[in-house]
Amino acid sequence: MPHHERHGAKQPERFDPARAQVLDDPSRFIYLPAELVLDLLDAPENARIVDFGTGTGAYAVALAQRRPDLEIVALDEQPQMLDLLRAKLNARPQPSVELADDPRPLEGTADRVLALNVLHELGDEALAELSKLVKPGGYALFIDWNADADRPVGPPNDHVYTLDEAEARVRASGLNVMWSQTLAYHFAIAASA
Ligand SMILES: C[S@@+](CC[C@H](N)C(=O)[O-])C[C@H]1O[C@@H](n2cnc3c(N)ncnc32)[C@H](O)[C@@H]1O
Repeated sequence: MPHHERHGAKQPERFDPARAQVLDDPSRFIYLPAELVLDLLDAPENARIVDFGTGTGAYAVALAQRRPDLEIVALDEQPQMLDLLRAKLNARPQPSVELADDPRPLEGTADRVLALNVLHELGDEALAELSKLVKPGGYALFIDWNADADRPVGPPNDHVYTLDEAEARVRASGLNVMWSQTLAYHFAIAASA
């Protein structure tokens, strides 16, 4: 898949695969439990979830373990990230997680799109691609670091959005914000097509 121009992204550099191990830090699941993400996703039985910018798939795998009925498409534009997830799945198979590097064949097929710690990295073009994945009746769930939170972890506040800024960006992409809330260090925004 072609690498995107980052125009419009708050943090214009893409995530460096050399830092991939921070994505597998188990303490993430303390301040952002997989169960909480599942609650916010509110996915119907057998739903297709596209994990947009899956990285090493830390949450894709955690969701699959808890909800084996879900079909989880782990999408990333960086082959190095998908290689790390592939190695993880080879060591511990998770048949309901499939890997993808191109969003185009997935257009209009996602009951839910999960974008976890990704919005601040997405340029306008990538955000438009993400929005096209959402099926009618489905929604995208953006969970990202909150620039208004006092956080011991995550990127510096000037690399990430406040909830208001994030909502404005999501709206500008053409999605409709249904609800939003703040979490310990993150915000969550649900937006329908
Ligand atoms: C900070 S990491 C978060 C990974 C994962 N969501 C997590 O929370 O563990 C952001 C990931 O988004 C991916 N990414 C950024 N822009 C993307 C795009 N346009 N399409 C697909 N993946 C993208 C990066 O390659 C990186 O793996």
